[in-house]
Amino acid sequence: MSEMQVQFHRAHVGEEEAQAVSEVIRSGWMTMGPKTFEFEKEFAEYVGAQHAIAVCTGTAALHLSLEAAGIRAGDEVLLPTTTFTATAEAVTYLGARPVLVDIDPVSMNMSVEDAVKRITTKTKAIIPVHLAGQPCDMDEIHELARVSGLRIVEDAAHALPSEYRGRRVGQISEFTCFSFYATKTLTTGEGGMITTDNAEVADRMRLMRLHGIERDAWKRYRGDGSWFYEVLEAGFKYNLTDFQSAIGLVQLAKCDVMRQARECIAGRYSAAFSSCDALIIPTVLPDRKTSWHLYVVRLRLERLNIDRNGFIRTLHRRGVGCSVHFIPLHLQPYYQRVHGYQPGAFPRAEKEYDSCLSLPIYPGMTEAEINYVVRVVLETAAEFRVAHAVVAHANPSA
Ligand SMILES: Cc1ncc(COP(=O)(O)O)c(C=O)c1O
Repeated sequence: MSEMQVQFHRAHVGEEEAQAVSEVIRSGWMTMGPKTFEFEKEFAEYVGAQHAIAVCTGTAALHLSLEAAGIRAGDEVLLPTTTFTATAEAVTYLGARPVLVDIDPVSMNMSVEDAVKRITTKTKAIIPVHLAGQPCDMDEIHELARVSGLRIVEDAAHALPSEYRGRRVGQISEFTCFSFYATKTLTTGEGGMITTDNAEVADRMRLMRLHGIERDAWKRYRGDGSWFYEVLEAGFKYNLTDFQSAIGLVQLAKCDVMRQARECIAGRYSAAFSSCDALIIPTVLPDRKTSWHLYVVRLRLERLNIDRNGFIRTLHRRGVGCSVHFIPLHLQPYYQRVHGYQPGAFPRAEKEYDSCLSLPIYPGMTEAEINYVVRVVLETAAEFRVAHAVVAHANPSA
Protein backbone atom coordinates (compact mmCIF):
# COMPACT_ATOMS: atom_id res chain seq x y z
CA MET A 1 0.00 0.00 0.00
CA SER A 2 1.37 3.43 -0.91
CA GLU A 3 1.93 6.20 1.63
CA MET A 4 -0.88 8.29 0.12
CA GLN A 5 -3.50 8.09 -2.66
CA VAL A 6 -3.94 11.11 -4.93
CA GLN A 7 -6.77 10.73 -7.43
CA PHE A 8 -6.18 11.97 -10.97
CA HIS A 9 -9.34 14.06 -10.70
CA ARG A 10 -11.93 15.01 -8.10
CA ALA A 11 -14.83 17.29 -9.09
CA HIS A 12 -15.05 20.53 -7.12
CA VAL A 13 -18.75 20.31 -6.28
CA GLY A 14 -20.52 20.48 -2.94
CA GLU A 15 -23.38 21.87 -0.88
CA GLU A 16 -24.08 24.85 -3.15
CA GLU A 17 -24.52 22.64 -6.21
CA ALA A 18 -26.69 20.19 -4.23
CA GLN A 19 -28.86 23.09 -3.03
CA ALA A 20 -29.24 24.44 -6.59
CA VAL A 21 -30.31 21.02 -7.90
CA SER A 22 -32.83 20.50 -5.10
CA GLU A 23 -34.40 23.90 -5.86
CA VAL A 24 -34.94 22.80 -9.47
CA ILE A 25 -36.45 19.50 -8.36
CA ARG A 26 -38.82 21.35 -6.03
CA SER A 27 -39.80 23.74 -8.87
CA GLY A 28 -41.49 20.86 -10.68
CA TRP A 29 -39.76 21.57 -14.05
CA MET A 30 -37.05 19.00 -14.76
CA THR A 31 -35.82 19.61 -18.31
CA MET A 32 -34.67 22.68 -20.28
CA GLY A 33 -36.36 25.81 -18.94
CA PRO A 34 -35.61 29.05 -17.05
CA LYS A 35 -32.36 27.82 -15.41
CA THR A 36 -30.93 26.81 -18.78
CA PHE A 37 -31.76 30.19 -20.33
CA GLU A 38 -30.18 31.93 -17.33
CA PHE A 39 -27.08 29.75 -17.65
CA GLU A 40 -26.82 30.58 -21.37
CA LYS A 41 -27.11 34.31 -20.67
CA GLU A 42 -24.48 34.31 -17.91
CA PHE A 43 -22.14 32.06 -19.88
CA ALA A 44 -22.33 34.34 -22.95
CA GLU A 45 -21.53 37.34 -20.74
CA TYR A 46 -18.66 35.51 -19.04
CA VAL A 47 -16.85 34.62 -22.28
CA GLY A 48 -17.90 37.83 -24.04
CA ALA A 49 -20.06 36.35 -26.82
CA GLN A 50 -23.45 37.45 -28.17
CA HIS A 51 -25.10 34.02 -28.01
CA ALA A 52 -24.66 30.84 -25.99
CA ILE A 53 -26.56 27.64 -26.76
CA ALA A 54 -26.59 24.98 -24.04
CA VAL A 55 -26.47 21.33 -25.11
CA CYS A 56 -26.17 17.91 -23.51
CA THR A 57 -22.46 17.26 -24.33
CA GLY A 58 -19.41 18.86 -25.89
CA THR A 59 -19.73 16.32 -28.70
CA ALA A 60 -23.26 17.59 -29.44
CA ALA A 61 -21.86 21.15 -29.46
CA LEU A 62 -19.34 20.15 -32.15
CA HIS A 63 -21.99 18.32 -34.18
CA LEU A 64 -24.48 21.23 -34.10
CA SER A 65 -21.75 23.74 -35.00
CA LEU A 66 -20.53 21.73 -37.98
CA GLU A 67 -24.12 21.23 -39.12
CA ALA A 68 -24.85 24.96 -38.85
CA ALA A 69 -21.60 25.67 -40.72
CA GLY A 70 -23.03 23.67 -43.60
CA ILE A 71 -20.64 20.71 -43.47
CA ARG A 72 -22.01 17.92 -45.65
CA ALA A 73 -21.13 14.43 -46.87
CA GLY A 74 -17.87 14.39 -48.81
CA ASP A 75 -16.46 17.57 -47.21
CA GLU A 76 -13.10 17.52 -45.44
CA VAL A 77 -12.46 19.02 -42.01
CA LEU A 78 -8.97 19.65 -40.59
CA LEU A 79 -8.26 18.77 -36.95
CA PRO A 80 -5.21 17.71 -34.92
CA THR A 81 -4.40 14.03 -34.50
CA THR A 82 -3.68 14.75 -30.81
CA THR A 83 -7.23 15.10 -29.52
CA PHE A 84 -10.11 13.12 -28.09
CA THR A 85 -12.06 11.06 -30.62
CA ALA A 86 -15.17 13.28 -30.17
CA THR A 87 -13.53 16.06 -32.22
CA ALA A 88 -13.28 13.83 -35.28
CA GLU A 89 -16.35 11.72 -34.57
CA ALA A 90 -18.62 14.80 -34.85
CA VAL A 91 -17.25 15.31 -38.38
CA THR A 92 -18.17 11.75 -39.34
CA TYR A 93 -21.79 12.26 -38.11
CA LEU A 94 -22.26 14.48 -41.16
CA GLY A 95 -20.61 12.04 -43.57
CA ALA A 96 -17.58 14.33 -43.84
CA ARG A 97 -13.95 13.20 -43.57
CA PRO A 98 -11.72 14.11 -40.61
CA VAL A 99 -8.35 15.16 -42.06
CA LEU A 100 -5.74 14.78 -39.36
CA VAL A 101 -2.95 17.31 -38.86
CA ASP A 102 0.38 16.99 -36.99
CA ILE A 103 1.11 19.07 -33.89
CA ASP A 104 3.53 21.74 -32.78
CA PRO A 105 6.05 20.09 -30.42
CA VAL A 106 6.07 22.97 -27.91
CA SER A 107 2.35 23.62 -27.36
CA MET A 108 1.20 20.19 -28.61
CA ASN A 109 -1.59 22.07 -30.45
CA MET A 110 -2.32 21.74 -34.16
CA SER A 111 0.55 22.88 -36.39
CA VAL A 112 -0.79 25.54 -38.77
CA GLU A 113 2.17 24.87 -41.05
CA ASP A 114 1.12 21.24 -41.39
CA ALA A 115 -2.59 22.15 -41.75
CA VAL A 116 -1.80 24.29 -44.83
CA LYS A 117 -0.27 21.26 -46.59
CA ARG A 118 -3.45 19.21 -46.12
CA ILE A 119 -5.93 21.65 -47.67
CA THR A 120 -7.74 20.40 -50.80
CA THR A 121 -10.72 21.69 -52.78
CA LYS A 122 -12.93 19.64 -50.44
CA THR A 123 -11.68 21.27 -47.22
CA LYS A 124 -14.54 23.25 -45.67
CA ALA A 125 -13.68 23.74 -42.01
CA ILE A 126 -10.93 23.59 -39.39
CA ILE A 127 -11.26 22.57 -35.74
CA PRO A 128 -8.48 23.98 -33.55
CA VAL A 129 -8.36 22.10 -30.23
CA HIS A 130 -6.94 24.08 -27.30
CA LEU A 131 -5.12 21.16 -25.72
CA ALA A 132 -4.95 21.27 -21.91
CA GLY A 133 -6.39 24.80 -22.11
CA GLN A 134 -3.64 26.62 -24.00
CA PRO A 135 -5.18 28.43 -27.00
CA CYS A 136 -4.02 27.52 -30.51
CA ASP A 137 -2.36 30.04 -32.89
CA MET A 138 -5.71 31.68 -33.59
CA ASP A 139 -4.46 34.63 -35.69
CA GLU A 140 -2.69 32.25 -38.09
CA ILE A 141 -5.74 29.95 -38.14
CA HIS A 142 -8.05 32.88 -38.93
CA GLU A 143 -5.74 33.97 -41.75
CA LEU A 144 -5.64 30.43 -43.16
CA ALA A 145 -9.44 30.21 -42.92
CA ARG A 146 -9.81 33.56 -44.68
CA VAL A 147 -7.59 32.72 -47.64
CA SER A 148 -8.93 29.17 -47.99
CA GLY A 149 -12.61 29.89 -47.30
CA LEU A 150 -12.87 27.65 -44.21
CA ARG A 151 -15.31 27.87 -41.31
CA ILE A 152 -13.72 27.72 -37.85
CA VAL A 153 -15.19 25.57 -35.08
CA GLU A 154 -13.05 25.81 -31.95
CA ASP A 155 -12.94 22.75 -29.72
CA ALA A 156 -12.65 24.53 -26.37
CA ALA A 157 -13.52 21.48 -24.27
CA HIS A 158 -10.37 22.25 -22.20
CA ALA A 159 -10.35 26.03 -22.49
CA LEU A 160 -12.64 27.57 -19.87
CA PRO A 161 -11.37 30.09 -18.97
CA SER A 162 -8.50 30.70 -21.41
CA GLU A 163 -7.31 33.80 -23.25
CA TYR A 164 -5.58 34.51 -26.53
CA ARG A 165 -3.99 37.94 -27.02
CA GLY A 166 -6.26 39.50 -24.39
CA ARG A 167 -9.47 37.90 -25.68
CA ARG A 168 -11.28 35.15 -23.86
CA VAL A 169 -11.80 31.88 -25.73
CA GLY A 170 -15.47 31.90 -26.71
CA GLN A 171 -15.41 35.28 -28.46
CA ILE A 172 -12.68 34.69 -31.05
CA SER A 173 -14.27 32.54 -33.76
CA GLU A 174 -17.67 31.95 -35.33
CA PHE A 175 -18.21 28.77 -33.29
CA THR A 176 -16.67 27.80 -29.94
CA CYS A 177 -17.62 24.50 -28.31
CA PHE A 178 -17.24 23.86 -24.59
CA SER A 179 -17.67 20.62 -22.63
CA PHE A 180 -18.99 20.30 -19.07
CA TYR A 181 -18.09 16.61 -18.76
CA ALA A 182 -17.31 15.30 -15.26
CA THR A 183 -13.57 16.06 -15.40
CA LYS A 184 -13.77 19.48 -17.04
CA THR A 185 -13.00 22.86 -15.44
CA LEU A 186 -16.74 23.60 -15.18
CA THR A 187 -18.85 20.49 -14.79
CA THR A 188 -22.54 19.71 -14.95
CA GLY A 189 -21.81 15.94 -15.01
CA GLU A 190 -22.47 15.92 -18.74
CA GLY A 191 -23.11 19.06 -20.75
CA GLY A 192 -21.83 21.50 -23.32
CA MET A 193 -22.20 25.02 -24.73
CA ILE A 194 -21.64 26.71 -28.06
CA THR A 195 -20.89 30.43 -28.23
CA THR A 196 -21.17 32.58 -31.34
CA ASP A 197 -21.74 36.18 -32.43
CA ASN A 198 -23.61 35.06 -35.55
CA ALA A 199 -27.39 35.33 -34.87
CA GLU A 200 -28.28 33.22 -37.89
CA VAL A 201 -26.22 30.17 -36.88
CA ALA A 202 -27.35 30.63 -33.26
CA ASP A 203 -30.98 30.30 -34.43
CA ARG A 204 -30.12 27.24 -36.50
CA MET A 205 -28.41 25.54 -33.54
CA ARG A 206 -31.31 26.37 -31.18
CA LEU A 207 -33.69 24.82 -33.68
CA MET A 208 -31.59 21.71 -34.28
CA ARG A 209 -30.83 20.99 -30.62
CA LEU A 210 -34.51 20.21 -29.99
CA HIS A 211 -35.94 18.10 -32.83
CA GLY A 212 -36.10 20.96 -35.33
CA ILE A 213 -39.14 22.28 -33.46
CA GLU A 214 -39.52 26.03 -33.60
CA ARG A 215 -40.54 26.52 -29.93
CA ASP A 216 -39.20 24.66 -26.92
CA ALA A 217 -41.45 22.83 -24.46
CA TRP A 218 -40.97 25.38 -21.66
CA LYS A 219 -42.60 28.06 -23.81
CA ARG A 220 -45.46 25.69 -24.71
CA TYR A 221 -46.19 24.42 -21.20
CA ARG A 222 -46.00 27.58 -19.14
CA GLY A 223 -49.32 29.28 -18.28
CA ASP A 224 -49.62 31.54 -21.31
CA GLY A 225 -48.05 29.00 -23.71
CA SER A 226 -49.75 27.44 -26.69
CA TRP A 227 -49.85 23.69 -27.44
CA PHE A 228 -49.14 24.30 -31.13
CA TYR A 229 -45.69 23.65 -32.63
CA GLU A 230 -44.20 23.05 -36.04
CA VAL A 231 -41.38 20.70 -37.01
CA LEU A 232 -39.16 22.59 -39.41
CA GLU A 233 -36.24 20.13 -39.70
CA ALA A 234 -35.20 16.64 -38.63
CA GLY A 235 -33.19 17.86 -35.65
CA PHE A 236 -31.59 16.19 -32.62
CA LYS A 237 -32.36 15.72 -28.92
CA TYR A 238 -29.40 17.67 -27.59
CA ASN A 239 -30.85 19.99 -24.91
CA LEU A 240 -29.40 20.51 -21.41
CA THR A 241 -31.69 20.06 -18.38
CA ASP A 242 -32.48 22.71 -15.77
CA PHE A 243 -30.86 20.79 -12.94
CA GLN A 244 -27.62 20.51 -14.92
CA SER A 245 -27.84 24.23 -15.72
CA ALA A 246 -28.39 25.01 -12.03
CA ILE A 247 -25.09 23.23 -11.28
CA GLY A 248 -23.51 25.11 -14.20
CA LEU A 249 -24.55 28.49 -12.77
CA VAL A 250 -22.96 27.72 -9.41
CA GLN A 251 -19.80 26.44 -11.12
CA LEU A 252 -19.61 29.46 -13.43
CA ALA A 253 -19.57 31.81 -10.44
CA LYS A 254 -16.50 29.92 -9.12
CA CYS A 255 -14.76 29.58 -12.49
CA ASP A 256 -12.06 32.23 -11.91
CA VAL A 257 -11.32 31.09 -8.37
CA MET A 258 -11.03 27.48 -9.54
CA ARG A 259 -8.63 28.55 -12.31
CA GLN A 260 -6.46 30.39 -9.78
CA ALA A 261 -6.26 27.24 -7.68
CA ARG A 262 -5.11 25.20 -10.70
CA GLU A 263 -2.62 27.89 -11.71
CA CYS A 264 -1.15 27.79 -8.24
CA ILE A 265 -0.70 23.99 -8.43
CA ALA A 266 0.85 24.31 -11.91
CA GLY A 267 3.27 26.90 -10.52
CA ARG A 268 4.29 24.54 -7.73
CA TYR A 269 4.85 21.65 -10.15
CA SER A 270 6.80 23.73 -12.66
CA ALA A 271 9.03 25.28 -10.00
CA ALA A 272 9.86 21.84 -8.63
CA PHE A 273 10.25 19.98 -11.95
CA SER A 274 12.38 22.60 -13.69
CA SER A 275 15.28 21.47 -11.50
CA CYS A 276 15.07 17.96 -12.99
CA ASP A 277 16.73 17.58 -16.39
CA ALA A 278 14.73 14.45 -17.24
CA LEU A 279 11.43 16.37 -17.22
CA ILE A 280 10.02 18.98 -19.59
CA ILE A 281 7.51 21.32 -17.98
CA PRO A 282 4.64 22.83 -20.04
CA THR A 283 5.39 26.07 -21.88
CA VAL A 284 2.71 28.75 -21.66
CA LEU A 285 3.21 31.07 -24.63
CA PRO A 286 3.54 34.73 -23.55
CA ASP A 287 0.47 36.00 -25.42
CA ARG A 288 -1.95 33.44 -23.93
CA LYS A 289 -3.51 32.39 -20.68
CA THR A 290 -4.33 28.74 -20.15
CA SER A 291 -7.22 27.38 -18.08
CA TRP A 292 -4.76 24.79 -16.67
CA HIS A 293 -7.35 22.10 -17.33
CA LEU A 294 -4.43 19.67 -17.56
CA TYR A 295 -0.80 19.70 -16.44
CA VAL A 296 1.08 17.76 -19.12
CA VAL A 297 4.67 16.95 -18.24
CA ARG A 298 6.98 15.31 -20.76
CA LEU A 299 9.83 12.90 -20.12
CA ARG A 300 13.24 13.22 -21.72
CA LEU A 301 13.29 9.55 -22.55
CA GLU A 302 16.97 9.60 -23.59
CA ARG A 303 17.82 10.48 -19.97
CA LEU A 304 15.70 7.76 -18.40
CA ASN A 305 15.87 4.00 -18.46
CA ILE A 306 12.11 3.69 -18.18
CA ASP A 307 9.46 4.47 -20.78
CA ARG A 308 6.34 6.61 -20.27
CA ASN A 309 4.10 3.62 -19.50
CA GLY A 310 6.59 2.34 -16.93
CA PHE A 311 6.80 5.82 -15.40
CA ILE A 312 2.98 5.96 -15.08
CA ARG A 313 2.90 2.46 -13.58
CA THR A 314 5.46 3.54 -10.98
CA LEU A 315 3.42 6.64 -10.12
CA HIS A 316 0.26 4.54 -9.81
CA ARG A 317 2.05 2.05 -7.56
CA ARG A 318 3.01 4.96 -5.33
CA GLY A 319 -0.57 6.20 -5.26
CA VAL A 320 -0.47 9.04 -7.82
CA GLY A 321 -3.23 8.87 -10.44
CA CYS A 322 -2.28 10.13 -13.89
CA SER A 323 -3.50 9.98 -17.46
CA VAL A 324 -2.39 10.57 -21.07
CA HIS A 325 -3.82 13.26 -23.37
CA PHE A 326 -4.16 11.93 -25.98
CA ILE A 327 -3.44 8.75 -27.89
CA PRO A 328 -3.18 10.28 -31.40
CA LEU A 329 -6.25 9.43 -33.47
CA HIS A 330 -4.19 7.98 -36.34
CA LEU A 331 -3.05 5.20 -33.96
CA GLN A 332 -6.65 4.19 -33.20
CA PRO A 333 -8.12 1.16 -35.04
CA TYR A 334 -11.20 3.01 -36.35
CA TYR A 335 -9.22 5.85 -37.98
CA GLN A 336 -6.83 3.32 -39.51
CA ARG A 337 -9.54 0.96 -40.78
CA VAL A 338 -12.03 3.52 -42.10
CA HIS A 339 -9.90 6.58 -42.91
CA GLY A 340 -6.69 4.82 -43.91
CA TYR A 341 -4.32 6.38 -41.37
CA GLN A 342 -1.09 4.56 -40.49
CA PRO A 343 1.40 4.64 -37.62
CA GLY A 344 4.29 6.92 -38.52
CA ALA A 345 2.07 9.39 -40.41
CA PHE A 346 2.42 12.15 -37.78
CA PRO A 347 5.90 11.86 -36.28
CA ARG A 348 5.74 14.87 -33.98
CA ALA A 349 2.44 13.79 -32.44
CA GLU A 350 3.84 10.28 -31.89
CA LYS A 351 7.02 11.57 -30.29
CA GLU A 352 5.12 13.76 -27.82
CA TYR A 353 2.61 10.98 -27.16
CA ASP A 354 5.42 8.58 -26.23
CA SER A 355 6.76 10.96 -23.60
CA CYS A 356 3.73 12.78 -22.12
CA LEU A 357 1.66 12.24 -19.02
CA SER A 358 -0.94 14.35 -17.23
CA LEU A 359 -0.70 14.87 -13.46
CA PRO A 360 -3.49 15.63 -10.97
CA ILE A 361 -4.50 19.32 -11.03
CA TYR A 362 -7.79 20.43 -9.48
CA PRO A 363 -9.07 22.85 -6.88
CA GLY A 364 -9.42 21.11 -3.56
CA MET A 365 -6.07 19.29 -3.82
CA THR A 366 -4.53 19.57 -0.38
CA GLU A 367 -1.03 20.87 0.37
CA ALA A 368 -0.07 17.34 1.37
CA GLU A 369 -1.36 15.95 -1.95
CA ILE A 370 0.49 18.54 -4.05
CA ASN A 371 3.72 17.94 -2.12
CA TYR A 372 3.29 14.20 -2.45
CA VAL A 373 2.86 14.36 -6.26
CA VAL A 374 5.98 16.55 -6.53
CA ARG A 375 8.00 14.18 -4.35
CA VAL A 376 6.89 10.99 -6.13
CA VAL A 377 7.51 12.42 -9.62
CA LEU A 378 10.99 13.70 -8.67
CA GLU A 379 11.90 10.46 -6.88
CA THR A 380 10.75 8.38 -9.86
CA ALA A 381 12.73 10.52 -12.31
CA ALA A 382 15.83 10.26 -10.06
CA GLU A 383 15.45 6.51 -9.62
CA PHE A 384 15.37 5.88 -13.38
CA ARG A 385 17.85 8.59 -14.42
CA VAL A 386 20.59 7.08 -16.58
CA ALA A 387 24.14 7.87 -15.49
CA HIS A 388 25.28 11.26 -16.86
CA ALA A 389 28.31 9.78 -18.67
CA VAL A 390 26.06 7.36 -20.55
CA VAL A 391 23.76 10.19 -21.68
CA ALA A 392 26.70 12.30 -22.85
CA HIS A 393 28.00 9.35 -24.85
CA ALA A 394 24.60 8.51 -26.35
CA ASN A 395 23.73 12.08 -27.23
CA PRO A 396 26.68 14.51 -27.33
CA SER A 397 24.39 17.52 -27.85
CA ALA A 398 22.25 16.80 -24.77
C1 LIG B 1 -10.77 17.77 -26.67
C2 LIG B 1 -12.15 17.28 -26.42
N1 LIG B 1 -13.11 17.52 -27.33
C3 LIG B 1 -14.38 17.12 -27.16
C4 LIG B 1 -14.76 16.42 -26.03
C5 LIG B 1 -16.17 15.93 -25.91
O1 LIG B 1 -16.86 16.46 -24.84
P1 LIG B 1 -18.06 15.65 -24.16
O2 LIG B 1 -17.49 14.53 -23.38
O3 LIG B 1 -18.73 16.68 -23.30
O4 LIG B 1 -18.95 15.20 -25.27
C6 LIG B 1 -13.81 16.15 -25.05
C7 LIG B 1 -14.22 15.43 -23.83
O5 LIG B 1 -13.68 14.72 -23.14
C8 LIG B 1 -12.46 16.58 -25.24
O6 LIG B 1 -11.51 16.33 -24.34
